[in-house]
Amino acid sequence: MKTLNIGLFGFGNVGRGLYDVLQRIDSDNVHIKRICVRDIAKERGVKAEFTADPNDIFEDKDINLIVEVIDDADAAYDIVKRALKNRIPVVSGNKKMLGYHIVELIDLQEQYNTPLLYDASACGSIPVIRNLEEYYDNDLLCSVKGILNGSSNFILSKIFNEHMSYKDALKLAQDLGFAESNPTLDIDGWDSLFKLIIITVHAFGIYVAPDQIFTYGISTMNDSDIRFAREKDRRIKLVAHVEKFDDRLIMCVIPQLISRNKYIYSVEDEFNGVVIKGLFYDKQFMFGRGAGGHPTGSAVLSDITACAYNYRYEYKKRNDSVLPIYTTDHTFRVYFRYKTAEQRNLLHFSKVREQYSSEEYNYVVGDVTIANLKAHQEELRTADCFVAAYPFD
Ligand SMILES: NC(=O)c1ccc[n+]([C@@H]2O[C@H](COP(=O)([O-])OP(=O)(O)OC[C@H]3O[C@@H](n4cnc5c(N)ncnc54)[C@H](OP(=O)(O)O)[C@@H]3O)[C@@H](O)[C@H]2O)c1
Repeated sequence: MKTLNIGLFGFGNVGRGLYDVLQRIDSDNVHIKRICVRDIAKERGVKAEFTADPNDIFEDKDINLIVEVIDDADAAYDIVKRALKNRIPVVSGNKKMLGYHIVELIDLQEQYNTPLLYDASACGSIPVIRNLEEYYDNDLLCSVKGILNGSSNFILSKIFNEHMSYKDALKLAQDLGFAESNPTLDIDGWDSLFKLIIITVHAFGIYVAPDQIFTYGISTMNDSDIRFAREKDRRIKLVAHVEKFDDRLIMCVIPQLISRNKYIYSVEDEFNGVVIKGLFYDKQFMFGRGAGGHPTGSAVLSDITACAYNYRYEYKKRNDSVLPIYTTDHTFRVYFRYKTAEQRNLLHFSKVREQYSSEEYNYVVGDVTIANLKAHQEELRTADCFVAAYPFD
């Protein structure tokens, strides 16, 4: 294993988590040489060399690995590109940056023959990317579905199991370091979306841009929705979903009413759970901590160690002779709560299976296409509406 001198960008939850993990294992081969942060004046309480100037890292000839764990996707993009162009291997945790730029970054890795690893970006401590990349390489993969956002799952658990208010649950998630500094990223499904895009590149070989994918979160969920779920003996979970049907591929992030017989029904708190389904082995389930400084820090360390052994992603699925075609032409059964007739008319149900009306709210259970949901993604985000997939099983 070669010795790594790390230039670390970011010393928040994850950067600090990585630092602690490294202290604990006391490795002879991995050292943090210098740490670049935004605010140099902040008291950090550790003995390390801090800077606010990226050049102090890029111009340090001893540094042979960059680790980027900052919360600014644009700056992260600049750091990762600069590292690759300087042929310095780089580890990143920034799913938003990857969700937008992964294709260009794959090309840069090839052009400069330099690896970029980012297992920590997709599911915290669960090594989903490397598994999809290596183990499921030649498999007849059908779908990858899961809870990919620890913070929203934590909030849903507190609401469902402890009857906590949405606001208190969010505050607690932030205090515990699970939530992103901008919580809408977690709550409105964006964080899950970016992870889903990364997973899809490794699972099915295609990239679909964020604005093409129906993405909907839990910020408008209210007591009526929770009551509906309980009456049906289900729990609401925020699920990211990619599935292949012959040559077609669907993707979406949507709250789902999950029945007890599903693996992800029991995924609670900040944990993530990913169900991988294949043609011949049915379902496999990966479960673990999806967020938090130490779990994510240890996932970053795993990428660092992989770099030390010259591991790199090969993106094998991208070279398959036939790649699936992304479509939104697929029907889901959904539960849709709304207030006004105008809102009701946003969704064109091919089949209405159940409906309820009252002065306070109305709901429909019926079948709609993802394309229909996608066309009204923003209107559905208003306080009076909530939509959740309601699978048959
Ligand atoms: N938290 C998690 O559980 C988790 C899990 C998986 C992936 N991630 C990803 O890991 C990354 C970091 O998350 P986090 O929770 O650790 O964030 P955080 O606690 O908000 O910390 C962000 C850090 O980035 C630094 N920073 C911001 N802009 C910078 C810039 N332009 N140059 C240098 N440093 C800069 C900040 O410096 P100051 O300290 O000076 O403000 C801070 O130390 C994000 O991409 C996140 O999506 C987080």
